[in-house]
Amino acid sequence: MENLEEKKEFHHYTVMKKEVVDSLNCDGSDKIFVDCTLGGGGHSEEILKRISKQGRLIAFDVDDDAINHAKNRLKDYKNLAIIKGSYLDIDSHLKNLGIEKITGGVIFDLGASYHQLTTAQRGFSFMKDAPLDMRFNQQQTKTAYEVINKYSENELVEIFSNYGQERFSKRIAHAIIKNRPIETTLELAKLIQNSTPKIKTKIHSATRVFQALRIEVNGELLNFENTLKKTISLVDIGAIISVLTFHSLEDRIAKTIFKSYASSCRCEKNAIKCTCEGKILELINKKPLIASVEEIALNPPSRSAKLRIAKKIK
Ligand SMILES: C[S@@+](CC[C@H](N)C(=O)[O-])C[C@H]1O[C@@H](n2cnc3c(N)ncnc32)[C@H](O)[C@@H]1O
Repeated sequence: MENLEEKKEFHHYTVMKKEVVDSLNCDGSDKIFVDCTLGGGGHSEEILKRISKQGRLIAFDVDDDAINHAKNRLKDYKNLAIIKGSYLDIDSHLKNLGIEKITGGVIFDLGASYHQLTTAQRGFSFMKDAPLDMRFNQQQTKTAYEVINKYSENELVEIFSNYGQERFSKRIAHAIIKNRPIETTLELAKLIQNSTPKIKTKIHSATRVFQALRIEVNGELLNFENTLKKTISLVDIGAIISVLTFHSLEDRIAKTIFKSYASSCRCEKNAIKCTCEGKILELINKKPLIASVEEIALNPPSRSAKLRIAKKIK
C-alpha cells in the first residue's frame, strides 16, 4: 500500500446542472432553497447565481473535504449557510436556523462524489490500494473494514445481492469468511476476482461488491428514504423537490414515494375511511429526465443519472 495518492484538489463534475437547477424555478427568487448534497458545490453555486440576494440557500454534507472545498468556492455568497451534518437531520438543522418551511425547493444529488471515489485513501476504489474505509463522513465509526470482517456470511450475501445485484454473492461471501481478516481494497478486489468466473465484460468483477459495500457503510438507501418523506412535510406549497439518482434502487425509492404522495389516497387497502391528506404532490415529469448525449460524451458516468421532480400542491 505504498504511494497513497495525495489529492489536494477537489474534482467533481456536476451532473445535469442546468436541468436540476432549472427544475427549481429559482431565477431571481427570494425564497429558501436546500441542497441536501453539497459535494463540490456545483449545483449550489448555480442556485446562488440565480436566486436574489434576499433568497437563501442551506447546503448539507457530511464529508469534511466537501465542506472545506465548498466553503472556499462559495465564500462570497452571504446568503448561503453550509452545514456539516447529515440530511437525515434536515428538520432539526432547519429549526436551529429558525426555518419552518422550505419555500423554494430542495435538491438531492445522490451517491458519491468523483473526489470521494478517486481519492485513494478514502478506500472507495478497487483500483487503488488503501485500507477498507468508504465512509462519506470521516467521523463515522462504521467502515468497510467492519462490514467485511465482522458481518456474518448471510449478511454479506444479502448486501451484495440486494445493493449490488451481484450474481456470485454466495461465492464471494464464502471466500471472504474463509480469508478474514481482509485489510485493504486491493486484497478484497483480488479475492473477488479469484472467487468468481472469468467473464468477458468491460465491468471489473469487484464493481458491484464495492458499490454494495459503499451503500451499506453509509446507510445510503435508508437515509434517503427517510429524508425524502421528511422533506415532503418540510416544503411549502409550491416548492419543488428534485432528486438525481445513479442507482436503480435509489430511483425506485424516489419513484415510489413521489407516486404515493401524488395519489389521491395512501391509506391501507382495507381502511374503512380515508384518513390521509390525499394528493399533496404533483409529478412534474412522469418519466425521469436523463443527461443529454453531449453531457454523456463529456462525462460518461452521467449516463446512469435519472432526475425526478415533484411539486408540493397541498
Ligand atoms: C454526488 S455528490 C454531490 C455533488 C454536488 N451536487 C456537486 O455539484 O458538486 C454527493 C454528496 O452527498 C454527500 N452525502 C452523502 N450522504 C449524505 C448525507 N446523509 N447527508 C449529507 N450529505 C451526504 C456526499 O458526501 C457527497 O459529497
